[in-house]
Amino acid sequence: MEKIVIKGGISLAGEVQVSGAKNSALPLLFATLLADGRSEICNIPHLRDINTAVKLLRELGAEVSFTADCIQVDATKIRSIEASYDLVKTMRASVLVLGPLLARCGHARVSLPGGCAIGARPINLHLKGLEALGATIKLDHGYVEATAKQLRGAKISLDMPTVGGTENLLMAASLADGETVLENAAREPEIVQLAEALNSMGAKIEGAGTAIIHVQGVEKLQPLKCSVIPDRIEAGTFMIAAAITGGNVLVRGAVQADQEALISKMLEAGVKIYPEADGLRVIGPQQLKPVDVRTGVFPGFPTDMQAQFMALMTKAEGTSRISETVFENRFMHVCELQRMGADIQIDGHSAIIRGNSNLTGAPVMATDLRASASLILAGLAAENTTEVSRIYHLDRGYEKIEKKLAALGADVRREQE
Ligand code: EPZ
Repeated sequence: MEKIVIKGGISLAGEVQVSGAKNSALPLLFATLLADGRSEICNIPHLRDINTAVKLLRELGAEVSFTADCIQVDATKIRSIEASYDLVKTMRASVLVLGPLLARCGHARVSLPGGCAIGARPINLHLKGLEALGATIKLDHGYVEATAKQLRGAKISLDMPTVGGTENLLMAASLADGETVLENAAREPEIVQLAEALNSMGAKIEGAGTAIIHVQGVEKLQPLKCSVIPDRIEAGTFMIAAAITGGNVLVRGAVQADQEALISKMLEAGVKIYPEADGLRVIGPQQLKPVDVRTGVFPGFPTDMQAQFMALMTKAEGTSRISETVFENRFMHVCELQRMGADIQIDGHSAIIRGNSNLTGAPVMATDLRASASLILAGLAAENTTEVSRIYHLDRGYEKIEKKLAALGADVRREQE
């Protein structure tokens, strides 16, 4: 196994290019299953989760090839409709094959994802929506057996704006007979890109990015050609890296409109942020101010930035409170940050960060993707050396993060454990 070793205390400077968004690339890759023919998706990030998605596409029978930063997927021949437990437990986003397979083949057998480190993460709302579209859903030995001779449009009101649920239902409804109205839909930029991509394949979707999405089903879709939007969570992570080290960094690819909630909280903390070139210039202050945060669905403060923001608040001059409202167990980074000297108390779904921590380097362990990012950020600001182990979690969502940080002046390297 590998670890990342960081010698902290260096202010980052220079510029960094954000890669394509993991959480957009994944649904786009599975959307290729909706059409015969050869699709191409560019600006693909080189991540473990992308490799897992490619493995699943190949198991379903698609032919997949790579050029520089593009993936070609030919889903003309689907020879299996099953996403196995092994694959789904490795990457729960594999459940996003449910909608496409059901719409294209009338059948899908997908393992229930089971829980993960950050929470139970059920898919009941995905299944309820697919049933509303006319699918028959059975649960059999931990697998979802979904069948539908012909999906038909329906009015679906989601109990909560689930990102994956919205994506599965958009893909299924695109080939349903008649109109679907999705109410309380997720509004993330990744949903907007998926809807635009589906429309470029011949779908008829209106309202993506708002809470009510209309889909007029069509007979057939054409292959997809698109380029993945920049990763707003990777961008936010580098913005915090600049802030926590008192640095001055241009984060190329950061899109202000996709980061409003994070930007306003960082400005409140005393960070300077300006649009510049094709990104955002971020200048960390000498002294950070404490800021309370409550995560929420987009456009609220992203839960995927909660752990990273907590690392920042350990350096603020005073007490801040961070409440996690989306997932039930997303504070695994707290005990590792405490080992680095952070003064944090958990109170139910909130964490109280006393700030003014003199972070000191320590051997710490990554537990999930964004928790590992939080430990890297704390290591950048800590005295002495921090070793982050189990960084396979990190490699799921960050492309060559140690190389990008080193290019900004950080003393960071990847080593065998
Ligand atoms: C997506 O997960 C992202 N993953 C997550 O990013 C992100 O944290 C999450 O959206 C919220 O923004 C991808 O896009 C691949 P949800 P998803 O369905 O779709 C509950 C990262 O770090 N829920 O919006 O699984 C669920 O339990 C990852 O990149 C139900 O109860 O998120 C959770 O508490 C982590 N029933 C909440 O809703 C359902 O049927 C949000 O889930 C579906 C969801």
